Amino acid sequence: MKEVKKLTGFSKLTKAEKLKIVADHVEASDAFMEAFKGCWHADEQQQQVFDEFSENTLTNFFLPYGVAPNFLINDRYYIVPMVIEESSVVAAAAKAAKFWAERGGFKAEVLSTTKVGHVHFTWQGNDEKLYTSWEALKKYLLTSTTQLTAGMQKRGGGIKQIALIDGPEVGYYQLKVTFETCDAMGANFINACLEEMSRSLKAFVEENVAEEGDNPVEVIMSILSNYTPECLVKSSLSCKISQLGCINGLSPEEFARKFEKAVKIAKRDVYRAVTHNKGIFNGIDAVAIATGNDFRAIEAGGHAYSARSGSYQSLTTLSLAHGIFSYELKIPLALGVVGGLTQLHPLVKWSLRLLGNPNVSELMKVVASVGLANNFNAVCSLITTGIQQGHMKMHLSNILNHFGVADHQKQLAFNHFKKKTVSFHAVREFLESKVAYNHADNISE
Ligand code: MEV
Repeated sequence: MKEVKKLTGFSKLTKAEKLKIVADHVEASDAFMEAFKGCWHADEQQQQVFDEFSENTLTNFFLPYGVAPNFLINDRYYIVPMVIEESSVVAAAAKAAKFWAERGGFKAEVLSTTKVGHVHFTWQGNDEKLYTSWEALKKYLLTSTTQLTAGMQKRGGGIKQIALIDGPEVGYYQLKVTFETCDAMGANFINACLEEMSRSLKAFVEENVAEEGDNPVEVIMSILSNYTPECLVKSSLSCKISQLGCINGLSPEEFARKFEKAVKIAKRDVYRAVTHNKGIFNGIDAVAIATGNDFRAIEAGGHAYSARSGSYQSLTTLSLAHGIFSYELKIPLALGVVGGLTQLHPLVKWSLRLLGNPNVSELMKVVASVGLANNFNAVCSLITTGIQQGHMKMHLSNILNHFGVADHQKQLAFNHFKKKTVSFHAVREFLESKVAYNHADNISE
């Protein structure tokens, strides 16, 4: 490891210069440079688009792009694009999709579509003046944003509401603004409107309320909220318990009963709830990335929503009433199908086309259904075979690649581990055994 020194003016250098400097900090700098250059796009123009997505870009970082077919959502089939590195997530989604397609598929519904943002400010002095000016101030704020909101209004969106909120501390207030951003995720639109409002708030008070240049308003910050409980979608699965069939050796009734217990545990126990919800986000994030959406925003909002009662809980609920297995996911999803990366990333636009160019509501339904599918499959494995069986089967291939195993030997390993527990150690032992190396072509286990 070479010593890392403070770098000045780094961001102003060219990509080649940056790469050279960074590589010089690594022992095998030539190999480092080669590996990084090896991941550049063959098309220079395309590479430039990637470079400009972010700052100090040196290369691209590959992730597998897979698809989960057979998603029957509201009586329509989808082939769903998923970008994720974790082995078995795509397989799990596809397995659950196929299972439920034979039982009526997913029923999904968008419950609400608004988002909020705030101007956080303090008010020094007589707050009665703030309240008595409120109606006039509200009009002023709305007028100040008309240029920004004109396009969105034409599409049926814009600012839906402005409320003055008295904050929990003396002298702290918020302008809470509710937005409809139609097919856009809308982060830039919301933040631009809020920043304009914060300037107008100061100006209005200056002109109408302040005395002798003493403005009582100090704007602390203006920013959208990634908590979007009013941008909510529901996806559900349901069939007669008897129609579940035998699952991994459990009768439908045993399966339903155990499944119910597992969901109850995820309602009550935060350790389990977080893992349960992580399984939902496995699917959600993968589709979010494939469609150019901000998965960090989605995760943040989803986790906050799962703690809305005051305790963190599972995002899914199960009912077994009247002999019906009915499983539901309700989740806030702030997504977009226009703007952002959607037209820039060479694969995002194809992901959207693969989904039939959905509007944002349709995409919300697809994404929620994939999250529910991944969770269903995870719980299904957990209460029957355990997850290691499925996980390690996929993971075996990663371990074999780690050891640089040739294709014909891989098949041998797959046969060997069909009924054995996969672990890094076990695979190494197997590979070191004479069986794998010396007789690879002849021996079938
Ligand atoms: C692994 O990525 C996700 C699971 O742990 C989810 C769960 O436990 O429900 C399998």
